[in-house]
Amino acid sequence: MSNTAAAKPETVTLTDNQSGKQVVFPVLNGSVGPKVIDIRKLYGAVDMFTYDPGFTSTGSCESAITYIDGDAGVLLYRGYPIEELAVHSDFLETSYLLLNGNLPNAAEKAKFESAITRHTMLHEQLAAFFRGFRRDAHPMAICCGVVGALSAFYHDSTDIHDPHQRMVASHRLIAKMPTIAAMAYKYAIGQPFVYPQNRLGFAENFLHMCFSVPCEPYECSPVLSKAMDRIMILHADHEQNASTSTVRLAGSSGANPFACIAAGIACLWGPAHGGANEAVLKMLGEIGHKSRIPEFVARAKDKNDSFRLMGFGHRVYKNFDPRAKIMRETCYEVLNQLGIQDDLLELAMELERIALEDDYFIEKKLYPNVDFYSGIILKAMGFPVSMFTVLFAVARTVGWISQWNEMIGDPEQKIGRPRQLYTGSPSRSYVPVAAR
Ligand code: SDX
Repeated sequence: MSNTAAAKPETVTLTDNQSGKQVVFPVLNGSVGPKVIDIRKLYGAVDMFTYDPGFTSTGSCESAITYIDGDAGVLLYRGYPIEELAVHSDFLETSYLLLNGNLPNAAEKAKFESAITRHTMLHEQLAAFFRGFRRDAHPMAICCGVVGALSAFYHDSTDIHDPHQRMVASHRLIAKMPTIAAMAYKYAIGQPFVYPQNRLGFAENFLHMCFSVPCEPYECSPVLSKAMDRIMILHADHEQNASTSTVRLAGSSGANPFACIAAGIACLWGPAHGGANEAVLKMLGEIGHKSRIPEFVARAKDKNDSFRLMGFGHRVYKNFDPRAKIMRETCYEVLNQLGIQDDLLELAMELERIALEDDYFIEKKLYPNVDFYSGIILKAMGFPVSMFTVLFAVARTVGWISQWNEMIGDPEQKIGRPRQLYTGSPSRSYVPVAAR
């Protein structure tokens, strides 16, 4: 490949060393980050596909929402560093930013908060859906089902070609996810559903729906509501991760936004993705004591052992995940302010220390990711492990729906339909069973 002079449009040239044929591809520049080679005409030119399982070197779309510099450990939401938003902003303001592209002024902020607040209730018939599940159903299974069912109740916001309906559906999803998550939790523990309270802030309202009971007043600790709000900011969006790519692919067929978000929830559930926070707590429980850390670190390094250190490593971050740093600080703050001495935190800190000094993790650039500490805080707040990924989904809904809106509004958008390297049988004739 060769790069031509900057004066002319930048291109790269591919040479097929069998046929000698050369094809020139344009290079596209973003605002920051790696350039891309526009290979859209490749198949037509050389009758070959690219091959990139897991899309490690493939840009699937153009986006202006979130930017990650994995080597520098940088995460920007619409250009704002996550460290600044985590300290100075709140989840609904950050949601407005992700959805609309800029921070709201005071009037825009108040209007958005009011719109979200007034969409937090669920259609009363949806409560019946929960009763169809076993009490021991995983809350992610319930969320997948109930969110998908929203499209059966909110027909007036499923026309994806109507910008107003798209925004109403976006507000409904952001607003109703905490209510659905809280109802899934209440259903699991056999307590009555708690209605949202419009007088409460977003995170406080969620904690109130989860932890209040009709028999006595519930005062939410400002420490916990602030920590919950910050955890939601940290999880709100993250470029074209697996679940966001799932939402985009589902949306590319024209599916309604509720169905697309249900697909994103399903993908997030996997332990390699959003399910990792639940897996971290189970792993720490299995390790049990710091004397056993070397045993598990050795297993994580053993190619013949499928065990991996959950909460470590990342497709993009080859430096510290900036969210993990903020999560660790928040973990300390919450546990100290609640006066909780959690052995799991000590164990996690020791595991992090040992792993980060180990050549295997250093060489492979494996650092703690956002999931490594989040579970410890959520456990301290009183959530069961099974709710951890649900909380991730509550926060990521705004990222998913912002990316979905961006895709629907992209004039170059078309249905996603990847090709393949076929390694199956060439054409062969049917053989009757008697002759097999
Ligand atoms: C999230 O994409 C996103 O942005 C996701 C996310 C978001 O906000 O949306 O950030 C949220 O999903 C965070 C990641 C949570 N998952 C986990 O913590 C699960 C544990 N981590 C691994 O499964 C893994 O690190 C992944 C899945 C996160 C990333 O996997 P990659 O990019 O496909 O990397 P890889 O599997 O090719 O690993 C590279 C090497 C391999 O060794 P070699 O084959 O090269 O010899 O590193 C090793 C892996 O075996 N490795 C690990 C490891 N993670 C990678 N070895 C031990 N423990 C680990 N955790």
